[in-house]
Amino acid sequence: MSQLSEVIILDSLKQIIDPDLRKDIVTLGFVRDVVINDGDVSFRIVLTTPACPVKDQMQEQAQQIVSGLEGVSSVNVTMDSEVPQGRGIANNVAIPGVKNIIAVSSGKGGVGKSTVAVNLAVALAQDGAKVGIMDADVYGPNIPLMLGTGYDQPEIENGQLKPIEAYGVKMISMAVLVPPDKPMILRGPMLHGVIRQFLTDVNWGELDYLIVDMPPGTGDVQLSLAQLVPVQGAVLVTTPQEVSLADVRRAVKMFETVNVPVLGVVENMSYFIAPDTGTRYEIFGKGGGEKLAAEYGLNMLGQIPLGLEVREGGDQGKPVVVSAPDSPQTQALKKAAEEVARQVSIEAMKPELVILTRAK
Ligand SMILES: Nc1ncnc2c1ncn2[C@@H]1O[C@H](COP(=O)(O)OP(=O)(O)OP(=O)(O)O)[C@@H](O)[C@H]1O
Ligand SMILES: [Mg+2]
Repeated sequence: MSQLSEVIILDSLKQIIDPDLRKDIVTLGFVRDVVINDGDVSFRIVLTTPACPVKDQMQEQAQQIVSGLEGVSSVNVTMDSEVPQGRGIANNVAIPGVKNIIAVSSGKGGVGKSTVAVNLAVALAQDGAKVGIMDADVYGPNIPLMLGTGYDQPEIENGQLKPIEAYGVKMISMAVLVPPDKPMILRGPMLHGVIRQFLTDVNWGELDYLIVDMPPGTGDVQLSLAQLVPVQGAVLVTTPQEVSLADVRRAVKMFETVNVPVLGVVENMSYFIAPDTGTRYEIFGKGGGEKLAAEYGLNMLGQIPLGLEVREGGDQGKPVVVSAPDSPQTQALKKAAEEVARQVSIEAMKPELVILTRAK
């Protein structure tokens, strides 16, 4: 009988390298709860994104490696995920349960920020993450419409607002605090106050990701958010058009100034496939997002085609990832969500910044 031990098992698993973090899964602290019962071995592998594309491959690899060790008769590998905390979040007293704050922004209006924000949020929740969405477009809030929540005021719980929930996503918006027919007149400092309240006076609970839908442009709200809380990263939405791209450039500069890393670019309304003929039309031009990404060394997080289902989903309060799960738009949005999660985890796991809870 060989002396099978946790050390031998862990040592063998060091062959498995996380492709994004470029370290082995043992060093990264991903292997947990190793139990050896005679020849029966079980352990968990805890990854950092809810829908990791290499999950199955890694499970199989771990299974094979440990099965090959002397003295092992059976192996049970459970795959799990735990989203790491963003940098600076440990000192974030404002919203202690929120691990990562992600701003969805653009230079120009109407490019699909809110649509992308809502669908990213729902897609991440579908993947098993705990997700919230904060509608920071205080003058033109439309997340409640897109999530179909209606405009009922949120309940108050222990002196905090209870977020409204839809499709597994917690939401707060100006639209549920002020009746929709009332015009909103807020000056700079009041705006700052509203953003602060959305962060601190709302009981967000435990969240892996808080997605913030930004108003268009590079104004006060963007600055307030960056001043109030550590924003893990910004997702920039653009259309392939040159005008839109010029505005994104401004947004890139603005986030640089306030020290918020740009996680990447989502190119929306990238192309249209005619449902009757299948012909692909590049309505807003081609390759603009890619050009921008290359110019600034940014990641291309996804290209979302135009589609009637997207607009209808938004108008009917049923995001396209729910209403048309098999559509090319949904596939693109789900891929973008995976990519966002991946970039967040890469940012958070940068060697000097690891704040991952290790195995007990
Ligand atoms: N890929 C798409 N296909 C079809 N329609 C889309 C797509 N993306 C967004 N839309 C539609 O375009 C309109 C504008 O989108 P949205 O409100 O998300 O943009 P926005 O950038 O948040 O706008 P604002 O700057 O006003 O906040 C909406 O009617 C939405 O349904
Ligand atoms: Mg919007």
